[in-house]
Amino acid sequence: MTQELPQQQVEEIIKAFEKDFERFAPFIHDASAPPNLDLETAITHQRAAAELRTRYLGKKSALAASKKLIGKVAPEERASFGQLVQSTEDKLETMLDQAEQNLKNHIESERTARESIDVTMPGRRPRSGHRHPITLMRERLEDIFVALGYAIEDDREIETDFYNFDALNIPENHPARAWQDTFYTTDGFALRSQTSTVQIHAMQRRGVPVRMIAPGRVFRRDTPDPTHNPMFFQVEGLCVDRGITMAHLKGTVAEFLRRMFGPETVTRFRPSYFPFTEPSAEFDFSCFKCKGAGCRICKNSGWIELGGSGMVHPNVLRALGVDPNEYSGFAFGLGIDRMCGLMYELDDIRLLFENDVRFLEKFE
Ligand code: FA5
Repeated sequence: MTQELPQQQVEEIIKAFEKDFERFAPFIHDASAPPNLDLETAITHQRAAAELRTRYLGKKSALAASKKLIGKVAPEERASFGQLVQSTEDKLETMLDQAEQNLKNHIESERTARESIDVTMPGRRPRSGHRHPITLMRERLEDIFVALGYAIEDDREIETDFYNFDALNIPENHPARAWQDTFYTTDGFALRSQTSTVQIHAMQRRGVPVRMIAPGRVFRRDTPDPTHNPMFFQVEGLCVDRGITMAHLKGTVAEFLRRMFGPETVTRFRPSYFPFTEPSAEFDFSCFKCKGAGCRICKNSGWIELGGSGMVHPNVLRALGVDPNEYSGFAFGLGIDRMCGLMYELDDIRLLFENDVRFLEKFE
């Protein structure tokens, strides 16, 4: 073995290393890795640098083989060859150390950036709900009646025959009692089919005089269609005092409808029949859309039917221990769902209970 050969070998090693190391050059000249280096690429570079270290500095590397030759070169060359091998090893090591350290720093900072939470980012706002159109309608009419001096009553939805029928002067054989019309429970109770039951509770609780409205849920064995649901909302009104007449009823209902649908709203009463009122009347109001001229909403009649009303039947007052010769009163009841349907021009009141948020969102 000549003295030149081992030195040449080392020079070859340096040349080969420098070529392989070219891709890492940016990481040793700069203080840190280029900022546009993404995490995945930096990790790939890090692996490649480790492989390079094994290849050039590992036990089986050409440089390790050169080290073994130190003892074999001529004694006068030994020191300089030894220094060459050592300085080559130091140089390769320093370059790899620098590259690896820079890559390591870069990877760490990229990872931290990825995992850290940017507190200045706008948060994801949870979708806030809003009130149901029926609730909005109920609140509007409650506001109107509270302003007119009425109290608001709430009561049970499951009732006994007394509140459902007897106290409301509904005779034994009345069709409303039939199982086809009312939902009965197995133990003789029934789901109330009208809010008129609250008239009785209110008079029992408050006595007379009384002025109250009772909005609430009612149930009927009605087949669902665009204007019917088996569960819907009504609002009941009751006013009992000395000297109350039909004129008070008409004035109150007319004023309520003017406040609800606009000052030009006209109200009309048609004779009707309810067991718990005498005389009884159904009331309509002039269509809020066409002002009575006739349109799709009022089916070209100019009028919209809204509910029933009348003077509280003396039998109802008597059942509650109120003397009909001293006190008189009026009551009315109307459907909130239908009023809601009219107000918002819904073709079908079943939409109100389908829970389709795309529909409900329109009422925010
Ligand atoms: C009554 O329920 C009487 N209690 C009203 C009353 C109160 C009269 C006080 C006298 C004194 P009626 O059955 O007509 O009346 O119902 C009143 C309103 O409820 C109707 O005008 C309608 O708007 C609404 N309604 C009735 N059935 C349904 C249904 N299946 N779905 C939605 N709304 C309904």
